[in-house]
Amino acid sequence: MGKKGQEIVGSEREAILAQLRKAYLDELLAFYSYWVTAIVAEGWHGEELKEHFQREAMEELGHAKKLAQRILELGGDPVVAPSEWEGNANAPWTPPRGDRADADGMVKDQLEAERKAIEVYHRLAQLAFGKDPVTYKLATELLEDEVGHEEFLESLLARKGA
Ligand SMILES: [Fe+2]
Ligand SMILES: [Fe+2]
Repeated sequence: MGKKGQEIVGSEREAILAQLRKAYLDELLAFYSYWVTAIVAEGWHGEELKEHFQREAMEELGHAKKLAQRILELGGDPVVAPSEWEGNANAPWTPPRGDRADADGMVKDQLEAERKAIEVYHRLAQLAFGKDPVTYKLATELLEDEVGHEEFLESLLARKGA
Protein backbone atom coordinates (compact mmCIF):
# COMPACT_ATOMS: atom_id res chain seq x y z
CA MET A 1 0.00 0.00 0.00
CA GLY A 2 1.17 3.50 -0.80
CA LYS A 3 4.41 2.42 -2.49
CA LYS A 4 5.53 5.87 -3.69
CA GLY A 5 4.24 7.52 -0.54
CA GLN A 6 6.48 5.23 1.53
CA GLU A 7 9.43 5.53 -0.83
CA ILE A 8 9.74 9.30 -0.42
CA VAL A 9 10.13 8.92 3.36
CA GLY A 10 13.24 6.81 2.81
CA SER A 11 15.57 5.68 5.55
CA GLU A 12 13.77 7.48 8.37
CA ARG A 13 10.60 5.46 7.89
CA GLU A 14 11.23 3.05 10.80
CA ALA A 15 12.20 5.82 13.21
CA ILE A 16 9.13 7.84 12.29
CA LEU A 17 6.88 4.80 12.54
CA ALA A 18 8.22 4.02 16.03
CA GLN A 19 7.30 7.53 17.21
CA LEU A 20 3.91 7.42 15.51
CA ARG A 21 3.11 4.12 17.23
CA LYS A 22 3.95 5.54 20.64
CA ALA A 23 1.97 8.72 20.00
CA TYR A 24 -1.02 6.67 18.87
CA LEU A 25 -1.05 4.89 22.23
CA ASP A 26 -0.56 8.18 24.10
CA GLU A 27 -3.72 9.40 22.40
CA LEU A 28 -5.77 6.30 23.17
CA LEU A 29 -4.73 6.59 26.82
CA ALA A 30 -5.49 10.32 26.82
CA PHE A 31 -8.91 9.60 25.35
CA TYR A 32 -9.65 7.04 28.05
CA SER A 33 -8.26 9.25 30.79
CA TYR A 34 -10.49 12.19 29.86
CA TRP A 35 -13.46 9.93 29.23
CA VAL A 36 -13.36 8.07 32.54
CA THR A 37 -12.47 11.20 34.50
CA ALA A 38 -15.52 12.91 33.00
CA ILE A 39 -17.63 10.05 34.32
CA VAL A 40 -16.30 9.88 37.87
CA ALA A 41 -15.41 13.53 38.55
CA GLU A 42 -17.48 15.55 40.97
CA GLY A 43 -17.28 19.20 41.88
CA TRP A 44 -17.16 22.50 40.08
CA HIS A 45 -20.90 22.86 40.45
CA GLY A 46 -22.96 20.97 37.99
CA GLU A 47 -21.68 19.38 34.85
CA GLU A 48 -19.11 21.94 33.74
CA LEU A 49 -15.99 19.84 34.19
CA LYS A 50 -17.64 16.74 32.72
CA GLU A 51 -18.62 18.63 29.58
CA HIS A 52 -15.09 19.94 29.07
CA PHE A 53 -13.50 16.56 29.59
CA GLN A 54 -15.97 14.73 27.36
CA ARG A 55 -15.15 17.13 24.54
CA GLU A 56 -11.40 16.73 25.08
CA ALA A 57 -11.82 12.94 25.12
CA MET A 58 -13.33 12.99 21.64
CA GLU A 59 -10.57 15.27 20.34
CA GLU A 60 -7.89 12.88 21.59
CA LEU A 61 -9.73 9.98 19.96
CA GLY A 62 -9.69 11.93 16.69
CA HIS A 63 -5.92 12.35 17.09
CA ALA A 64 -5.54 8.60 17.61
CA LYS A 65 -7.43 7.94 14.39
CA LYS A 66 -5.22 10.27 12.36
CA LEU A 67 -2.07 8.68 13.77
CA ALA A 68 -3.37 5.16 13.05
CA GLN A 69 -4.09 6.19 9.46
CA ARG A 70 -0.56 7.58 9.04
CA ILE A 71 0.96 4.40 10.53
CA LEU A 72 -0.96 2.33 7.98
CA GLU A 73 0.06 4.61 5.10
CA LEU A 74 3.71 4.08 6.04
CA GLY A 75 3.23 0.31 6.03
CA GLY A 76 3.22 -0.13 9.81
CA ASP A 77 0.81 -1.72 12.24
CA PRO A 78 -0.76 0.20 15.10
CA VAL A 79 -0.67 -1.68 18.43
CA VAL A 80 -4.08 -3.30 18.77
CA ALA A 81 -4.20 -5.19 22.09
CA PRO A 82 -5.22 -3.00 25.08
CA SER A 83 -2.86 -5.02 27.31
CA GLU A 84 0.05 -3.56 25.31
CA TRP A 85 -1.07 0.07 25.30
CA GLU A 86 0.45 1.55 28.43
CA GLY A 87 3.77 -0.27 28.22
CA ASN A 88 4.38 0.95 24.68
CA ALA A 89 3.24 4.57 25.07
CA ASN A 90 5.53 7.50 25.84
CA ALA A 91 4.08 7.89 29.33
CA PRO A 92 1.70 6.11 31.72
CA TRP A 93 -1.93 7.13 31.55
CA THR A 94 -3.39 9.74 33.89
CA PRO A 95 -5.90 8.15 36.28
CA PRO A 96 -8.67 10.20 37.88
CA ARG A 97 -7.81 11.31 41.42
CA GLY A 98 -9.01 9.13 44.29
CA ASP A 99 -10.80 12.16 45.69
CA ARG A 100 -13.48 12.54 43.04
CA ALA A 101 -14.32 16.04 44.23
CA ASP A 102 -10.75 17.22 43.56
CA ALA A 103 -11.64 18.82 40.24
CA ASP A 104 -8.70 21.24 40.36
CA GLY A 105 -6.30 18.37 40.94
CA MET A 106 -7.70 16.45 37.99
CA VAL A 107 -7.33 19.47 35.71
CA LYS A 108 -3.74 19.90 36.91
CA ASP A 109 -2.98 16.24 36.14
CA GLN A 110 -4.41 16.59 32.64
CA LEU A 111 -2.40 19.76 32.16
CA GLU A 112 0.80 17.82 32.86
CA ALA A 113 -0.28 15.17 30.34
CA GLU A 114 -0.95 17.84 27.70
CA ARG A 115 2.52 19.29 28.26
CA LYS A 116 4.04 15.86 27.65
CA ALA A 117 2.00 15.61 24.43
CA ILE A 118 3.38 18.99 23.33
CA GLU A 119 6.91 17.62 23.79
CA VAL A 120 6.04 14.46 21.84
CA TYR A 121 4.68 16.33 18.80
CA HIS A 122 7.48 18.88 18.90
CA ARG A 123 9.99 16.00 18.74
CA LEU A 124 8.02 14.24 15.99
CA ALA A 125 7.86 17.43 13.92
CA GLN A 126 11.63 17.83 14.26
CA LEU A 127 12.21 14.20 13.28
CA ALA A 128 9.96 14.40 10.22
CA PHE A 129 11.08 17.84 9.05
CA GLY A 130 12.63 17.69 5.59
CA LYS A 131 12.09 13.91 5.40
CA ASP A 132 8.39 13.13 5.66
CA PRO A 133 6.20 16.15 4.84
CA VAL A 134 2.94 14.28 5.50
CA THR A 135 3.95 13.26 9.03
CA TYR A 136 5.43 16.72 9.59
CA LYS A 137 2.09 18.30 8.71
CA LEU A 138 0.23 15.90 11.01
CA ALA A 139 2.67 16.48 13.88
CA THR A 140 2.33 20.25 13.61
CA GLU A 141 -1.46 19.99 13.40
CA LEU A 142 -1.60 17.85 16.55
CA LEU A 143 0.97 20.09 18.24
CA GLU A 144 -1.31 23.05 17.55
CA ASP A 145 -4.25 21.19 19.11
CA GLU A 146 -2.28 20.18 22.22
CA VAL A 147 -1.04 23.74 22.70
CA GLY A 148 -4.71 24.73 22.57
CA HIS A 149 -5.58 22.08 25.16
CA GLU A 150 -2.84 23.34 27.49
CA GLU A 151 -4.07 26.90 27.10
CA PHE A 152 -7.65 25.81 27.75
CA LEU A 153 -6.83 23.90 30.94
CA GLU A 154 -4.67 26.76 32.20
CA SER A 155 -7.55 29.16 31.67
CA LEU A 156 -9.94 26.80 33.49
CA LEU A 157 -7.65 26.80 36.51
CA ALA A 158 -7.21 30.57 36.34
CA ARG A 159 -10.96 31.07 36.30
CA LYS A 160 -11.35 28.83 39.33
CA GLY A 161 -8.50 30.62 41.09
CA ALA A 162 -6.62 27.36 41.69
FE1 LIG B 1 -4.03 14.55 21.46
FE1 LIG C 1 -4.64 17.02 24.30
